[in-house]
Amino acid sequence: MILAPMQGLTEVLFRKAYEECFPGAIQLAVSPFLSLTHGNLADAWEKIEDVLPENNVGSIPVIPQILGKEPAEFVELGNRLYELGYNEINWNMGCPMRKVTGKHRGSGILPYPDEVRSVLDKVVPHLKAKLSVKMRLGLRSKEEIFALVPILNDYPLISVTIHPRLGRQQYNGVPDLDTFGRVLPEINHPVIYNGDIKTAADARQIKKRFPEVVDIMIGRGILYDPTLPLEEVSEERRLELRKQFIGHLMERIGEVMPTEESCIRKTKEYWCLVWRALPISEIDARKVLHEQKLTDVEKLIYMFLQ
Ligand SMILES: Cc1cc2nc3c(=O)[nH]c(=O)nc-3n(C[C@H](O)[C@H](O)[C@H](O)COP(=O)(O)O)c2cc1C
Repeated sequence: MILAPMQGLTEVLFRKAYEECFPGAIQLAVSPFLSLTHGNLADAWEKIEDVLPENNVGSIPVIPQILGKEPAEFVELGNRLYELGYNEINWNMGCPMRKVTGKHRGSGILPYPDEVRSVLDKVVPHLKAKLSVKMRLGLRSKEEIFALVPILNDYPLISVTIHPRLGRQQYNGVPDLDTFGRVLPEINHPVIYNGDIKTAADARQIKKRFPEVVDIMIGRGILYDPTLPLEEVSEERRLELRKQFIGHLMERIGEVMPTEESCIRKTKEYWCLVWRALPISEIDARKVLHEQKLTDVEKLIYMFLQ
């Protein structure tokens, strides 16, 4: 299983906390994107800490992801990452945020096969690392992917991860498994499935229905239930492990965040998702979000972890 990139969530803090609690349960992670905003490396460099090898000791092994379509800067950043020891770079062709898609970045490039070809033409031969891509079915239409696949097939990509939604859907609706199944045989690269895997049974169903899929990438599902990848664990033990993990994550946040304010913000960001791993109601979970002092936030969370 592969941990999905989630900006602000599956960063190194989380990847380390997870690996410390469940060593080897997730074999690989793709980092939240490093953005080449306006073709500017400075933005990407601001986030470089997340993938610096010295910061990732003891973390789930990570593949850095780049968001952007400026070939020269892509190659420069990619090759700097290669010098840091990364043999694979992932290209984000899935981000659905409007300010991103409006500039033909993320899933905004999916309706433009010529632009995709032009980026790949200019990037692949100069990139020292190998390239993989993570994409949706399209921005506005699921037919977009069918025009892109012959282009993707022309390049030596390591893998193609597909989240079978449209960019304009954001996270609404359900993944379109029929279209995923139609496009799968057309792709000459290893394909990784991503989207709405919330239980081990969901993952098994995808593998059963699409045996060609080489791996499954999971994002929100791991936060809803960090024990999802663990097999043959009793429900009672699962609950203990979930509590241990949330407690450990909270400790790590406390150690890493520089100020009380940032610590509260980060704790609440994670809490919005991870509370679902506990047998508590949404009304109770929301009480944490109303607390203003770190000691009160922590007191309440630790009460739920008893
Ligand atoms: C808060 C948040 C941040 C995300 N950040 C990224 C990102 O940086 N790069 C990326 O490719 N996808 C990003 N995604 C999309 C996820 O990687 C994934 O494709 C999506 O959540 C569907 O998978 P899931 O249902 O397993 O969560 C993000 C999703 C969320 C909810």
